[in-house]
Amino acid sequence: MSVHVVVGAQWGDEGKGRVVDWFAGQSDIVARYAGGDNAGHTVQVGGESFKLHLVPSGIVHPGVVCVLGGGMVVNPLKLVEELDGLEERGVDVDPARVLLAQNAHLITPAHRALDRAKEASRGRDAIGTTSRGIGPAYTDKAARSGLRAGEMCHPERFAERVKAHVEAHNRVLSEIYGAEPLDPTQVAWELAQAAALLAPYVADTALYLHEQLEAGASVLGEGAQGTLLDLDHGGYPYVTSSSATVGGAITGLGIGPKHVERVTGVAKAFTTRVGAGPFPTELTDEVGDRLRGTGENPWDEFGTTTGRPRRCGWLDMVLVRYAARINGLTDLVITKLDILSGFEAIPIANAYTYEGETLTELPTEHQVFSRCQPVYESVDGWEEDIMGIRELDDLPPAARAYVARIEELAGVPVAQVTVGPEREQAIERAYA
Ligand code: GDP
Ligand code: IMO
Ligand code: MG
Repeated sequence: MSVHVVVGAQWGDEGKGRVVDWFAGQSDIVARYAGGDNAGHTVQVGGESFKLHLVPSGIVHPGVVCVLGGGMVVNPLKLVEELDGLEERGVDVDPARVLLAQNAHLITPAHRALDRAKEASRGRDAIGTTSRGIGPAYTDKAARSGLRAGEMCHPERFAERVKAHVEAHNRVLSEIYGAEPLDPTQVAWELAQAAALLAPYVADTALYLHEQLEAGASVLGEGAQGTLLDLDHGGYPYVTSSSATVGGAITGLGIGPKHVERVTGVAKAFTTRVGAGPFPTELTDEVGDRLRGTGENPWDEFGTTTGRPRRCGWLDMVLVRYAARINGLTDLVITKLDILSGFEAIPIANAYTYEGETLTELPTEHQVFSRCQPVYESVDGWEEDIMGIRELDDLPPAARAYVARIEELAGVPVAQVTVGPEREQAIERAYA
């Protein structure tokens, strides 16, 4: 009877997918608690790569039940596409093992059109969203006018609801943004087709999780995005619209905090960000290009969802420490340590300067954050390729010292270090 939550400790794309895949091997259920198909989670097993956007990363483990929780926003057309793609690759996506929360909100083509129109109207202040309709769908949820997954089980009402929804959004699209309206009948037809396929997946997942926890099941909560993209605790307004932090797991799955026994933060050994917003350790020079890679390797830093090049920079421990505090992290997983092989020295930021003042905590205002300069300390680098190493003691001493320094600065133990994208390219340490 326990819940283990995995959260992103930076700006997303930390490698949560592969970490969830690892822990799924010890879990009965993997339940994703927030976000939508703005997420792109990569799991690589035996050279086969799975890019998951909505379906939890536990799906690659046969026998693990996957829950799409009520905190998510789900585009039915995208979910059908993703389930079909998995089935074609021989993955079991039977409704007995994939459950969609009846209270998850739906993303429609109208939300996607609005996302694009709003971004265009922001001009230079654009957030750089994934244009998946995330913001508009959560806006409708908060406004209590959204469509929920449970409605897909009532075809007679659903089509009418969708039509009315599109008509309402058409007014905003054309009158406020001067954008093309959508055809309500066409959208209702498309969504009705998807709804017929998805209705068997819809369930009261909060009740299901409660019953399973009472029966002794172990549940892995899968976060999407990262702490710095959280609507409440991230670098507002350059955030997503969901609760990416551990609180989102409680509300997004409908479980009590008493069940949560472990909260693992995933942090890359350096920092990346996609989209706009402050990034104190960003490197816009050839070092940043080297961290990103050319796109030649599957793990190079190009968005899983949008293909956009990710902004790259050195590890920022102000962020990771913040994530440790906000989420009450019990442990950390450090991913992509292999990418740092070959640097003579590796800078780590542990504070900022702002107008001559030293800041050791994340500023709460983006106007301040965007003008912060990182204060670096430097540790020795290492030459060796470490992708084949599986024991901490076999890492070059400088790589071990880097991990030890992260632990010290975060105040949280490192439970795992990963040295390549494959499932087994991981160094596990005992977690008490
Ligand atoms: P997520 O959104 O947090 O699940 O992360 P993404 O899947 O978007 O991005 C992480 C990328 O890094 C993926 O291409 C992974 O296959 C890759 N990756 C994860 N861990 C490692 C690692 O330890 N080494 C290398 N080289 N690549 C990794
Ligand atoms: P995973 O789960 C990285 C970013 C977008 C943009 C901001 C808002 O793969 O880590 P949105 O479309 O959510 O309204 O965009 O959030 N963003 C992500 N960045 N990884 C993600 O997901 C992201 N999901 C959203 O780039 O800056
Ligand atoms: Mg990702």
